[in-house]
Amino acid sequence: MPAKWTPDSWRARPARQMPAYPDARVLGSVEKKLGAFPPLVFAGEARELKAQLARVAEGKAVLLQGGDCAESFAEFSANNIRDTFKVILQMTVVLMYAGGLPVVKVGRMAGQFAKPRSADDETINGVTLPSYRGDIINGIDFEPAARVPDPERMVQVYSQSAATLNLLRAFSRGGYADLHRVHGWTLGFVDRSPAGEKFRELADRISDSLQFMSACGITPDAVPQIHEASFFTSHEALLLPYEEALTRVDSTTGDWYDCSAHMVWIGDRTRQLDGAHVEFCRGIKNPIGLKCGPTSDPEELIRLIDALNPENEPGRLTLIARMGDDKVAAKLPPLARKVAREGRKVVWSCDPMHGNTIKSASGYKTRPFDRILAEMRGFFDVCRAEGVYAGGVHFEMTGQNVTECTGGAEAIQDAALGDRYHTHCDPRLNGTQALELAFLIAEKLRAQRSDEMRLRAVGDDD
Ligand code: PEP
Ligand code: CO
Repeated sequence: MPAKWTPDSWRARPARQMPAYPDARVLGSVEKKLGAFPPLVFAGEARELKAQLARVAEGKAVLLQGGDCAESFAEFSANNIRDTFKVILQMTVVLMYAGGLPVVKVGRMAGQFAKPRSADDETINGVTLPSYRGDIINGIDFEPAARVPDPERMVQVYSQSAATLNLLRAFSRGGYADLHRVHGWTLGFVDRSPAGEKFRELADRISDSLQFMSACGITPDAVPQIHEASFFTSHEALLLPYEEALTRVDSTTGDWYDCSAHMVWIGDRTRQLDGAHVEFCRGIKNPIGLKCGPTSDPEELIRLIDALNPENEPGRLTLIARMGDDKVAAKLPPLARKVAREGRKVVWSCDPMHGNTIKSASGYKTRPFDRILAEMRGFFDVCRAEGVYAGGVHFEMTGQNVTECTGGAEAIQDAALGDRYHTHCDPRLNGTQALELAFLIAEKLRAQRSDEMRLRAVGDDD
């Protein structure tokens, strides 16, 4: 029997990646303040996402989860939110059109501020300071004062997340996501790329279909899905004092929900079975993600799954594989096989970003786009060989025309990375690269679907 869970039971466990706040009293008063603020999301919405993810677990939908590596106070603007949302909508229609399946859309937005770091300190020109851990914890400037963890930053994150969520809700429900506007989602710089051209052709076909459907009486009035999108938020549940403060009892079920986002995930560096992050996540009823990296072990993964999803409820747990393009073929099969053999119901998603980060010759942290595509292909190949449904993708992207990942159709070179390198943490795909990735996934989804149909047809003959 596991010990009793409470929103603060994680405090008795070893917690990695947590800042040491200099003043416990200030921290306590911020936690109290946040604890009295309204929830950012409603438990019923988290349940709706879980139901949609259950469809993914059954092979009847696809998960598209993406957004910023680290949201920041400096990059907070309506245009940034809108442009990221536009690219996610474009990726969605590409996947829907190719896969013929509904797409569950989850943003790394409205709360994705805390970052795990591989080193506690950073040294520049002989000066050593604590690492930057995301705007929710400390400042990115390389100055001693900026790097001191400040609990008040949590309050600013709460308000930025509330405003972001408000705009996202307006965009998804207020007509912006209407399929009739499909041509209007393309950003200027994306439009001029080969992926943009491919998208235009697809958008033309969608417009034709909508006209035909309208002639048949299938209009947005009759079918609201044409007019609006459901969109959910997610982030890494890393900074547990913040997550605990927003964890509330749902009055309709009596269950606990982390109301900072619809879905939260456990990172690759904080997935210890006896650790604080697993302890916290096991007690909340939201859908949960768990990153699986090259050091994940099949037996341990089963123990983690059982801790996080003891009732084997489909939609509760999404396993996000982030192996690296050179490791996915060797490291993913034992995990996928074990989970399938043991009958654990999960969504398998691929994060082709975090295993492919390198330092370029010019000194920038970057990700070669070819390696991102290669890991994505590798993920689909492994899933196919193991008879597991490849359910989704988890990626870092911005709608802005940044130069952070090398390659892609525009062939961004190492020497050009400095042109528009704006990320606060990891290098993100720009709008064009994200669309290119969507076209590759679409191709793989189509193949997965025709495999499935073939299998079904063989079954029919028996
Ligand atoms: C992330 O998703 O931003 C992240 C840090 O990933 P991981 O835990 O897989 O390294
Ligand atoms: Co990242």
